[in-house]
Amino acid sequence: MPEPTHILIVDDDQAIRDLLLEGLSDSGYRCDTACDGVEGLKKVRTNGFQLVVSDIDMPEMDGVNLLQEFKKVRPDTEIIMLTGVVDVEIAIQSMRLGACDYLTKPFNLAEVRITVERALEKQRLLRENREYQKTLEMKVAERTAELSRKNREVEELFRRLQTSYQTTLEALATALDTRDTETLGHSLRVAAYTVAVARRMGVREPDLTDIYRGALLHDVGKIGIPDAILRKPGKLTPEEWVEMRRHPEIGYRILHGINFLEAAREIVLSHQETYDGSGYPRGLKGKDIPLGARIFAVVDTLDAMTSDRPYRKALPYEAARAEILKFSGAQFDPEVVKAFLEIPDGEWAEIHHRVMQDVLVRSQMHF
Ligand SMILES: [Fe+2]
Repeated sequence: MPEPTHILIVDDDQAIRDLLLEGLSDSGYRCDTACDGVEGLKKVRTNGFQLVVSDIDMPEMDGVNLLQEFKKVRPDTEIIMLTGVVDVEIAIQSMRLGACDYLTKPFNLAEVRITVERALEKQRLLRENREYQKTLEMKVAERTAELSRKNREVEELFRRLQTSYQTTLEALATALDTRDTETLGHSLRVAAYTVAVARRMGVREPDLTDIYRGALLHDVGKIGIPDAILRKPGKLTPEEWVEMRRHPEIGYRILHGINFLEAAREIVLSHQETYDGSGYPRGLKGKDIPLGARIFAVVDTLDAMTSDRPYRKALPYEAARAEILKFSGAQFDPEVVKAFLEIPDGEWAEIHHRVMQDVLVRSQMHF
């Protein structure tokens, strides 16, 4: 059985108090009475009444003052005001102050019961609404927390996937480099150099990653060039050169259908093009060559000149800079050359050192 609703009746007229007490008790409410505002307020302070039925015109503290005090102490308690016909103005004023309804004297008990039920129904709805809202807010907060947790998981997964892609590509490029013993670490170095120049030219992610991958895989097509040509100690015949020059297109075909390498693939196809249009396979000119490939052309020369060769030792950066500047506007894009020249020797040396440490770690892992 639920607890009966607790109602306080406040009136200075004993007859009305008794009438309401009897009528409302008969309807199943648990009732208490007070003969004026002071007593009423005291009882409201110490007991949790759901509803107060209060006269307006009383000595000591009148109903309107009492109403204001009630609302301060127990804002959730509903209050019905009782008024004589002449007090309708005050009744309306008390509604503005938070009373939920009023009854005009004389009233009959049926009228009182309906008004009380309506007030309690309103109170119930308000409470339910508040609880519903609270539950809703809690659910929203839970969902938001769950969503951001899932987001973090997806981000972490994506990051791991990216790292895994990168590691795979780097392993492939390193494997390709080892086929040509002269160029250990070459692909990783030119990829890092290309990114350094691209960043200097204002390129940002995700383009930087595409450029990195394009430079890293630039010679992937050499996988289709026979050892007899690729590792031939002497000069290549014209026919062998034709074969050798197929490697950008072979690389382009190998990477076909790999979505995340779509932009990198264009760099692979264009990495042997030159700014003045004398390169291959398409003889592209100027800005028609993808930026990544234009940058690659410059740093490929840098790496070739500053690496040891069987027939000569590595040359200083200064020599590479002079050579690159000499061909600015011909073989190389002048804007790329400008950005390249802005990067100090120390930075190139640092990238070189970092990549070679990495190559060393990889080779220790593999053998
Ligand atoms: Fe190449």
